[in-house]
Amino acid sequence: MGQIVNAVKMAHALLLPKLKNAYNVIDATAGNGKDTLFLATNTPPDAVIWAFDIQQTALDKTQALLADHGQARKVKFILASHVHIADFVKSPVDAAMFNLGYLPGGDHTVTTMPNTTVAALNQLLALLKPTGIISIVAYPGHDMGRREELAVRSFLAALPQKLYTVACWQMVNQVNNPPVLYIVERTG
Ligand SMILES: C[S@@+](CC[C@H](N)C(=O)[O-])C[C@H]1O[C@@H](n2cnc3c(N)ncnc32)[C@H](O)[C@@H]1O
Repeated sequence: MGQIVNAVKMAHALLLPKLKNAYNVIDATAGNGKDTLFLATNTPPDAVIWAFDIQQTALDKTQALLADHGQARKVKFILASHVHIADFVKSPVDAAMFNLGYLPGGDHTVTTMPNTTVAALNQLLALLKPTGIISIVAYPGHDMGRREELAVRSFLAALPQKLYTVACWQMVNQVNNPPVLYIVERTG
């Protein structure tokens, strides 16, 4: 039997209630497109989903998956690092997802990096609507992922409590540093 909960499923569950009123949404790491599909299928028909990835193969997979489900029309596929989010997205953002690390089944050396992830989060916070939400799934099970998770954690832990609620979720009985989910909600 598969897992009933994991960090990505938890991210989806926590984002879901917000998505019915989310019109400007970001998938900062499109990868194989599963998260983009989740965002596209659960937002209003006139929502825009911005799907970023630095790998053309990832965007091709995402585009094919979305087209298979009749959802590609809502998605802007952006071949660029999420560190450039603010160059593309000019209006306030309702929800965003970061599923960090490398493309499953792809080149493991092409992975998200601590500095660019934190810079992208910083830009996104400036774009986030009041009541907007961001999910970040980090993977401390590999070396770069461990450094990245620490960088994300210290960045988020310093956010002012009056403006943001930040929480984290992790399995406690799994070996090998299981993924960590961070949820940031703008509350002020
Ligand atoms: C774990 S995968 C994402 C999984 C994906 N959300 C899905 O549902 O299949 C991480 C992705 O981040 C991409 N990536 C790495 N660095 C990036 C960057 N600076 N900006 C945008 N995407 C990046 C990788 O190419 C990879 O496809």
